[in-house]
Amino acid sequence: MTTINFQVEAQAMREELIARRRDFHRHPELAFEEVRTAGIVAQALAELGLEVQSGVGKTGVVAMLDGAQDGPTVLVRADMDALPIQEANQADYASAYAGKMHACGHDGHTAIALGVAKLLSAHRNKLAGRVKFVFQPAEEVAGGAKAMIADGVLTNPRPDVTLGLHLWNSMPLGTLGVADGPVMAAASDFVITIRGRGGHGAVPQLAYDPIVAGAQVVSALQTIASRSADPLDHVVVSVCQFHSGSASNVIPETATLTGTFRTFRRPVRDLVEARMNEIVVGVARSLGCQADIRITHHTEPVSNDPQAAARARAAFQRLGHDHFVYERTMGSEDVGFLMTDIPGMYFFLGSANSERDLDHPHHHPRFDFDEEALPLGVALLSAAVADYLLVE
Ligand code: NI
Repeated sequence: MTTINFQVEAQAMREELIARRRDFHRHPELAFEEVRTAGIVAQALAELGLEVQSGVGKTGVVAMLDGAQDGPTVLVRADMDALPIQEANQADYASAYAGKMHACGHDGHTAIALGVAKLLSAHRNKLAGRVKFVFQPAEEVAGGAKAMIADGVLTNPRPDVTLGLHLWNSMPLGTLGVADGPVMAAASDFVITIRGRGGHGAVPQLAYDPIVAGAQVVSALQTIASRSADPLDHVVVSVCQFHSGSASNVIPETATLTGTFRTFRRPVRDLVEARMNEIVVGVARSLGCQADIRITHHTEPVSNDPQAAARARAAFQRLGHDHFVYERTMGSEDVGFLMTDIPGMYFFLGSANSERDLDHPHHHPRFDFDEEALPLGVALLSAAVADYLLVE
């Protein structure tokens, strides 16, 4: 039935994929600085005969692959940015730039999406519809998708479905996570400021201690997940900074707490936000302090449309890949913005190989993945895209 042998064609570009990935890996660029990467991406796409637009969302690249007939628009998204980490790997393709590293696999995502563009370009006469390739900057600071949307990436034409993948080192090579519903969390940050009345550490009765109030706030915030949220929902609230005071015998005037909370669904996010406000203000007031909280929502949940996920699983199974696991994480990804009002499917592709020491976690200075995931990723993602467009 299928007129494209995805695995054979993806394997045929194995060396090219690895070379590309290693070149990106050696030259990592931070958020909104992906000038070199974007230049290589734009040139490669232009050489395939695609209509290329650069500078979308500052350093993003968009390319359109038109099929021979009309049909749906499939958005394929890859992220291009690296992290401010000093690489500790010794590979000859290790980062050439001090303090910058592709420690999340976005070098692989970019190489894979270019491979998908090449594979499908060779078959454009068999496609009804179009593929909108979106090479996004600045995923790690959760700003790239928003910037590209502001520049119109979801219009002219509006995609019917958004597809993408993340190489995933917490799973062995080839294992697939294509769960229905939420797979990555909405990330929100908070800053809490507690104002009391300072004084002598030996005379607490004349002070309102913001440290004691802050400590109670930290404890009380844990009741949001344990007491306020439905146990069947998923919530994490983490206070990650607590700054106050400057001497061992002085009760300070203020305390500042910052942290993050993660949720899978909008109503749960609203609940957490409301409870945080009540707890912070109420607990502080009960101890004579005043408090305020500022919350910033950075990403939307990444939620797989069940129908799109089922189609992808079926496409993967047809290639003989059916090692599915129910993978979800409270980590976040700004691809959620590209899937909020558009059905989407974002899958985890296992990329670890513990025998070769390629199983360090994402964002670790020794992160690296099994490059056999590159041709595999091209085959799987191409098949998922073609499922919407291929004329039989
Ligand atoms: Ni990532």
